Parts: sequence; structure tokens; C-alpha cells
Amino acid sequence: MRKGILTIAAVGLLTTGGLTACSDDSGGDGAAAAKTPKIGVILPDSKSSARWETADRRFLEEAFKAAGVQYDIQNAQNDKTAFQTIADQMITSGVTALMIVNLDSGTGKAVLDKAKSQGVATIDYDRLTLGGSAQYYVSFDNETVGKLQGEGLSKCLTDKGVKNPVVAYLNGSPTDNNATLFKAGYDSVLKPKFDSKEYVKGPEDAVPAWDNAQAATIFEQQLTKANGKIDGVLAANDGLGNAAISILKKNKLNGKVPVTGQDASTEGLQNILVGDQCMTVYKAVREEAKAASDLAIALAKGEKKDTGQTVKDPEGGRDVPSVLLTPKAIYKENVKDVIADGYVTKEEVCAGAYAKLCADAGIS
Ligand code: BGC
Repeated sequence: MRKGILTIAAVGLLTTGGLTACSDDSGGDGAAAAKTPKIGVILPDSKSSARWETADRRFLEEAFKAAGVQYDIQNAQNDKTAFQTIADQMITSGVTALMIVNLDSGTGKAVLDKAKSQGVATIDYDRLTLGGSAQYYVSFDNETVGKLQGEGLSKCLTDKGVKNPVVAYLNGSPTDNNATLFKAGYDSVLKPKFDSKEYVKGPEDAVPAWDNAQAATIFEQQLTKANGKIDGVLAANDGLGNAAISILKKNKLNGKVPVTGQDASTEGLQNILVGDQCMTVYKAVREEAKAASDLAIALAKGEKKDTGQTVKDPEGGRDVPSVLLTPKAIYKENVKDVIADGYVTKEEVCAGAYAKLCADAGIS
């Protein structure tokens, strides 16, 4: 803590010096002038995935503290009005950079445009705001996330020896650009198999706001519609996967029908250890938080960092400077890697009845 305060003071001094040095040629718009960084972050909710509160908040705090910058992290709890109110408050309170995980592109764009008009630097964190104006986009290669899910499901179906499996889709939120990218990824693997009749396309639905409770209802309807004949479930994240597993359990089908996921949540990893879930996709959120924090601090200092990569915003047509990190597929054999990386703890994952399963999976 003490170290943090000293660092902030040092940055403050440097900043003052920087401003004095620049004051001669103050003809610019002021956006590039050095400011003491204060970073505002708006997380989307705490129910669509455990990650936002258990990983993103933790790793963002870790990165901001290490850099000695002031910050304010808030959660909109899936409320678009609250999202905008939080943004307004953060802008009024003098944040130099605003990082958002949008709830949809419309409200995301309104918030980004307002921040920009007030000289606040902006970053799309994890989700790209379509038609938006963020200066940077920091995320994972989300199409690869989907590809890993498609390949994972395919591997698990092969391992189970299922012939001509019927595959159901539980897609993510229709207002989340990531959900579109995940689907493009798993379609690239599975669609050729549907087309060649190796696999049979079963029911497909998108889950509004990634709502886990609604996902269970949707999957129950899918199973009914398919007369109980679903052999594999492409679920876009661990929460949706767990919803499908809860219905499979009711029908004594859990463990027989492979289910995918994403986020390497404690629950997802436990479902994998039990054998109810086939795989998940691990995204090292610590790196995502660090990359976003570095950019936000640089922007506050009026620096422009070259990320070496851009992503095309399909709506606005802009090439958005981006950092895209690499996701990793996790099966029973490498659940231990997620723990070794400090994303979840052994104590959480291997609690109670899971202790033996952890030992069997080489988690010591
Ligand atoms: C994130 C996922 C998350 C989902 C639901 C997506 O935008 O990339 O990690 O599971 O939102 O919160």
C-alpha cells in the first residue's frame, strides 16, 4: 500500500514536470497532454460468467496497483441505464481513461462517444463495440475460442464413438459481438461435418444476455424438440454448459453427452473432473487485464502505443488497434494448468468430493 502511494506521488511529480515542459506549444487539443492516470472500468454483470468478479476485477486491480494508478471498477449488473449512469459519474469524477465491457453495442457506443467528446481515452475491454469509437480493443482471438470449442466437441464425440451425432447449439448473447465470433469459430469446424452428413445439426438457440437460468429452460425445450436425441452440446461458455448439464442430469444423460464451455470457471473445471463436461477454453485474464491497463496508462500520458494489430469493426468499417491474446483448450488432463497459472485455486476446485478427482487428474 505504502509503495503504491509513493508511486502515485512520483507519477504526479513527473506529470507536473511534463505539463510545464509542454506549456510553450499548447496549441494542441489537450488530449495528448500528460495527465495523472485515473482509470474507470465498467464490468457487465456478475451472473453471465463468474470471470468478471472473480478474475477481471482481481487482475485489473492487481495491474493498476502494480502501476500505482488510481482506479474505479464498477459493475453494471446487466442494467443498461446503470451502465450509462456509471459512465457519466466516472467522466464527471475525472477519469482519464474509460474501459468498458459493453452490454450491447448501442449503449456502448453512446458511452464511448460521450467519453471521447470529453477528452477521456477509451478502450473496449473483451467485447468490441460495433460502430463504436474506442481507441483500442483488448481481448482474445475469439474466433479461435470458438474453433477450440468445435474441435473439442468433435474430439469428445469421437472418443465416445458416437456415429452421426446430433449436435445442439447454445450460443451466447445475440447482442455480444464475441458470441458472433465464437459461433463463426465453431461453425468453421462443425458446419463441414453437417454438410457432409457426418454430423446432424440439432436445435440451435442464442441465450439472451448469456442468462444461465434461461439457458436451462431453452435446453430443456431443445431436448424435448429432439425427442431426447441430442448427442453433443456446443455451449458457448461454462455457465451455459452447466445449464445444459443440469437438464441432462434430470434425464440421466449427464456424462454420456459431451458438453463444451469457456472461461475455466471453478464450476466448469469441476464439471470436467466429474466427466459431465468435455472441455472448456481458458483465457488468461491476467494478461488481458495487464495489456488493457498498460494501454490505459499510456493514453493518459498522451502516448500512442503501437499494438501491431488491428481488428475491422464490421459496422463502423474502422480498423481498431487491438491486442488479441491466445486462448487454450482445457480437458481433464490439463485442468492442472489453469490452477498452476493462478487463475483458480486448488482449494476451490478440489474442495470436498472433488479432492479424489483432482488427485486422479494429477493435481497435487
Ligand atoms: C466473454 C466470455 C463470457 C461471456 C459472458 C463474453 O463476452 O468473452 O468470457 O463468458 O461474455 O459473460
